[in-house]
Amino acid sequence: MVQFNLPENSKILKGNYFKDTTGSKNIKKINIYRWDPDKNENPKIDTFEVDLTKCGNKVLDILNKIKNEIDPSLTYRRSCAHGVCGSCAMNVDGVNTLSCMKSHKDINGDINIYPLPHLKVVKDLVADLSTLYRQYESIEPWLKTKEKKSKTTEINQSKENRKKLDGLYECIMCACCSTSCPSYWWNGDKYLGPAVLLQAYRWIIDSRDEERKERLKTVADKLKLYRCHTIMNCTNSCPKGLNPAKAISSIKKMLARS
Ligand code: SF4
Ligand code: SF4
Ligand code: FES
Repeated sequence: MVQFNLPENSKILKGNYFKDTTGSKNIKKINIYRWDPDKNENPKIDTFEVDLTKCGNKVLDILNKIKNEIDPSLTYRRSCAHGVCGSCAMNVDGVNTLSCMKSHKDINGDINIYPLPHLKVVKDLVADLSTLYRQYESIEPWLKTKEKKSKTTEINQSKENRKKLDGLYECIMCACCSTSCPSYWWNGDKYLGPAVLLQAYRWIIDSRDEERKERLKTVADKLKLYRCHTIMNCTNSCPKGLNPAKAISSIKKMLARS
């Protein structure tokens, strides 16, 4: 039987324990993945006892409290704190989500927080999204017209055609879906993954865009598109309630008819 072993330096070790100093009865234990590229050390899980009495309801509020009051070296991304920028995506309690949208009140017991899975880690909870952004760039996510329109030309869209973008334009490129997708885990350098394919579909069906055929041709590839096996993890994990699996199958249907 083949035996797989993790390299010694990738084994996750037990880290520091930060005990509560307030004496509060309302304590939650938070286990957080830590890794610092400047230290020649294995990743570890630090545990923080956090007093929830003076803390907002969201997991991001807990992270901010830890950073502000316990360990300023804790590293994570966040910006809007309102589910708009997509930067606070991480794995909370085994599920990829936006930490600013996830209520810690919904989680029983300790809270386990990891970076988005199957990506290189930059530091602590910050995952490296550079491949995903390169893939996003490759689908040219902007309106394209054959003839150059003047900057003041308005390109109209009917209400019906505008409606077709519902469920797509709301995507904030948080990558929760792509990093939940087994096909993207194993072929992330070739397969575009659900986030980028949903965006590709958003431009393919925009009635104002004049390069539909070229866009379809760009994604019609065994590895870029057909690595999707409709496992649906992507749709289940989208914190905005979008359906990337449906967008992918719509692209496949358009290609089958073309
Ligand atoms: S489809 Fe949902 S999970 Fe995927 S990137 Fe867009 S908002 Fe995030
Ligand atoms: S439906 Fe396709 S994109 Fe979504 S998780 Fe499954 S394989 Fe990945
Ligand atoms: S901080 Fe912007 S989506 Fe969470």
